[in-house]
Amino acid sequence: MADILTASDAPPESRARHRELADIIRACDKAYYIDANPLMADTDYDKLYRELADLEKAHPNLITPDSPTQRVGGAPLLGFAQVRHAIPMQSLDNTYSPEEVEGFVDRLIRSLPHVAPEALTFTVEPKIDGVAVTVRYEHGRFVLGATRGDGVTGDDITENLRTIRSLPLSLKTAVPVLEARGEVYFPSASFARLNAQRAAAGEATFANPRNAAAGSLKQLDPRLVARRPLAVVLYGAGQVEGAQIASHTDWLAYLKDQGLPTPERIWHCRDKAELLAAIAELDQVRHTFAYETDGAVIKLNDWRLRADLGSTSKAPRWAMAYKYKAEQAVTKLHSVTFQVGRTGTITPVAELTPVLLAGSTVARATLHNFEEIKRKDIRIGDAVTIAKAGEVIPAVLGVVLSERTGVETEIVPPTACPACGGAVALEGIFLRCTNPNCSAQIKRRVQHFAHRGAMDIEGMGETLAEQLVDSKLVKDIVDIYELSMEKLLTLDRMAKKSAQNILDGIEASKKRDLWRLLFGLGILHVGAGSGRALAEHFGSLDAIAAATEDDLKRINDVGDVVAASVASWFRVQENKDRIERLRAAGLQMESAGRPAAAVDGPFRDKSFVITGTLSKSRDEMADFIRGLGGKIAGSVSKKTDFLVAGDDAGSKLAKAQQLGVKIVSETELMALAGLPTV
Ligand code: IVH
Repeated sequence: MADILTASDAPPESRARHRELADIIRACDKAYYIDANPLMADTDYDKLYRELADLEKAHPNLITPDSPTQRVGGAPLLGFAQVRHAIPMQSLDNTYSPEEVEGFVDRLIRSLPHVAPEALTFTVEPKIDGVAVTVRYEHGRFVLGATRGDGVTGDDITENLRTIRSLPLSLKTAVPVLEARGEVYFPSASFARLNAQRAAAGEATFANPRNAAAGSLKQLDPRLVARRPLAVVLYGAGQVEGAQIASHTDWLAYLKDQGLPTPERIWHCRDKAELLAAIAELDQVRHTFAYETDGAVIKLNDWRLRADLGSTSKAPRWAMAYKYKAEQAVTKLHSVTFQVGRTGTITPVAELTPVLLAGSTVARATLHNFEEIKRKDIRIGDAVTIAKAGEVIPAVLGVVLSERTGVETEIVPPTACPACGGAVALEGIFLRCTNPNCSAQIKRRVQHFAHRGAMDIEGMGETLAEQLVDSKLVKDIVDIYELSMEKLLTLDRMAKKSAQNILDGIEASKKRDLWRLLFGLGILHVGAGSGRALAEHFGSLDAIAAATEDDLKRINDVGDVVAASVASWFRVQENKDRIERLRAAGLQMESAGRPAAAVDGPFRDKSFVITGTLSKSRDEMADFIRGLGGKIAGSVSKKTDFLVAGDDAGSKLAKAQQLGVKIVSETELMALAGLPTV
């Protein structure tokens, strides 16, 4: 009887409802993430999703590997296993010149003498600036995903890819083997927000969306990957069994029909002129795509002819990439303004004569800090070159010196805060306003508290935050909860209806989960990620306030810097008063989620310091160690259990030797973790 136990303990109506819910949610995911045509409101979707999750909780044997609930990310991995690609993942030959595109066509015509030149057809599609991956489905089920690695062997990132909503976990039909290749990308529209959140939390920002996608996929904890809005586009083929495909056009149509995401535009061309026209047209429209593109990929359409041409050791002979030149523009810097952030950091901003760049008009660009201005010798009145860093955030690259006339003036750092007139101090390379009651800082704090990623107070954006602070109705974030209809109606052009909406938004925010409050409070270095980790672990604000720095450090995702900052924030009397006022206002101070268990692993409770050059970046190595339960400290002390030392280790190595701290190489660390070291 045991073998018919499958989903048997669930009553038939639950089984049927499970199947129905899973189907509806899959259809919604496809409509939302692939077709950009949502089928229902988010709240309705959430309701169905919760019903599915509850059903699975009651009857765990209803869970299938392709259930929509299986995307949230499982336990952290110890490291990525290596997988050998069934068919190697190659690269492409690149060119920047139209002549070479013509040369490519001539070469194909010469190499295929048995085919009439008019019979050759080509496709042109976007070259997506993401991370190359391969995904493998067997009998219609997603079974394996990997990075390109060296082209022959890559990292097994199956668990991370499962969290990507635009990648279906099952196909429309149970085709025996379907391996598709493509790019995972970080949507351009979400990139600025990610970097803003990271900067707010004091974390390193990503250079561009590709970098953000790569950084996300390298995480060993799929739960962290699940929080990033990654997406995927597929265009290439690996091993395929059980489908008859004759051309690239066929292949893309087949992928689409199976429910897989494919490039949103593709051009069919018969000759050189059509190819060059398609490349030019793609350049015009590519900035409207959800992903960054850095070129066009030209492919011979016919798969049989591709096989005749074969490959060089690196790239196929039937395709080539045409790269667009990184877009830059020259314009005049007519003045510099100073922006005061919520922690008081003063950022110089270049005010420019508006200029068209990569599809949008740019009138302002960041100058980062005064050190950068000095290094690049940028002056007011200069002609400057601007570019979008990673095609997103405009930055001033440098000065066109040949255009200098001698009337340009130096950019002088302000000696008082441009917003409140308070004292400023130089901290490292950053200038900071030291007045905690600075109106600009309060405005930014209110805006941060209310923004979508934190307390999500509808209607309270930049403009309202400024009005509230300027009118002195709000001198501190806590004052938000003392706003009334009467007070709001004193504001310029405030109608009763919008005032009521704002009050409703404020009321709704009282129910937000604890992590949002933690993030919204603007504690230095606490981002949404560490806010969640704290809320989940401790379960209540009081428990966090009572925790010692060491208690805080023990949590995965909370480093030494965050722990110190949180502990000291809760020691300040003003902050204690703030919490009491928020409690009195009726805010949610307990986490809705259950406290998470500490990460158990071979490194549990062990403290590590990392130094020198290793095969991974310092952050990756730290993630790896934390994933195994270890803690990372910034400096060596008697409490350090291990110093992980790479090449060129300096003072930390000497200190560890002096204190008798155990020093391990990367290989020894792997051995300690019980991982293979080859
Ligand atoms: S076709 C056999 N098509 O660019 C290799 N590649 O610089 C076939 N890429 O390795 C690759 N968009 O990772 C192809 N539409 C596209 C692409 C694309 C991005 C990547 C891919 C490739 C790299 C070469």
